[in-house]
Amino acid sequence: FIQNGDVGYSSAPSNIALLKYWGKETNREQIPLNSSLSYTIGGFRSFTKVTALGRFLPNEEKTVSYFKNKLFLDENSKENKLPPKMDRLIRSILFPFADEISIEINSHNNFPTACGIASSASGYAALVGAIADLLQLEKHFSKLELLFWLSEWARLGSGSATRSVFTSEEESFVKWEAPILNKNKFTNTSSVKFHPKWRQLQHSVFILNSSEKQTSSSDGHKYAQTSPLNIIRTSGISHKLKLLQKALLEFDFECVQSLTEEDAYSMHAVMQTGEPKACYLTNEVSNLIGLFIQLRNEYDVKAFWTLDAGPNIHILYMPEAKIMLQKFHEISQTMIEREIKILTNSFNEGLLIG
Ligand code: PMV
Repeated sequence: FIQNGDVGYSSAPSNIALLKYWGKETNREQIPLNSSLSYTIGGFRSFTKVTALGRFLPNEEKTVSYFKNKLFLDENSKENKLPPKMDRLIRSILFPFADEISIEINSHNNFPTACGIASSASGYAALVGAIADLLQLEKHFSKLELLFWLSEWARLGSGSATRSVFTSEEESFVKWEAPILNKNKFTNTSSVKFHPKWRQLQHSVFILNSSEKQTSSSDGHKYAQTSPLNIIRTSGISHKLKLLQKALLEFDFECVQSLTEEDAYSMHAVMQTGEPKACYLTNEVSNLIGLFIQLRNEYDVKAFWTLDAGPNIHILYMPEAKIMLQKFHEISQTMIEREIKILTNSFNEGLLIG
């Protein structure tokens, strides 16, 4: 039984999709149009504490404010506005006790927000993990059942968060399958088997622009189906997902590289041809990708790029590519005449509860 003041803790990693999900089914809550597969960025994390408010003795006076969920970010004492979908998500998890408990959330990230790293992925995964800890769900579910429910709940906040749940040090690649064929089926999240050489893979993000994005991904997902290219992209994804899993298992680096880079281009083509249009693949980013490919060929190293719904370039690489990346950093700053910050993942850890 939960009491007023009980707490739950969790921390969760972010992730970067190699095969990206873009677009949601209309009239269904947070169901992706296509399957996706991501690499876990264990070092870029959200840390969340939730505290139960409510659960009073029968003769205690209840005030309305106790039944309102509260959000505090970055150790700030100022209360933040709770996004409606976060409120709905919390209510649906706490449903059996909804008229008795609300929660206060205190959360912070160890990386800057709006830097091209999905803070919603780690944020929502850590939130559902902390609620699970508060409710002590591990006593009632097997590990797999718990992960299933956590990823279902995280999905209601942010699609990519569902992939941040199915993570551990051993589980660096996660797939999230869309229920394309059977309209009533759940989406399915699971970890993907991979060759041990991928453990050496490193990740850095080159931050070209850290301002808030013009089109949020929630809005962007709504517009995906207005692009004539969307149907072409989504119909090819199942095949690419199979190829990508095979390439991860066999350590076929070139195949992972070409599928990832091609999918980033194809998602951005959908974004740029929908209505309204969202252009994150700016001329500046295109020129830098051109430079990156040129240097990769020159140095003959294993590295590839990808780009989410933002203008910051993610690079995944084997350790021998570091010198080439230094060169890439130097020349890119001269090309765009401003400082480019780099954040590098240094740690592989998945979802932690408690
Ligand atoms: O997690 P959401 O619902 O905010 O959408 C994220 C979409 C992309 O980051 C662009 C792609 C992906 O699969 O992560």
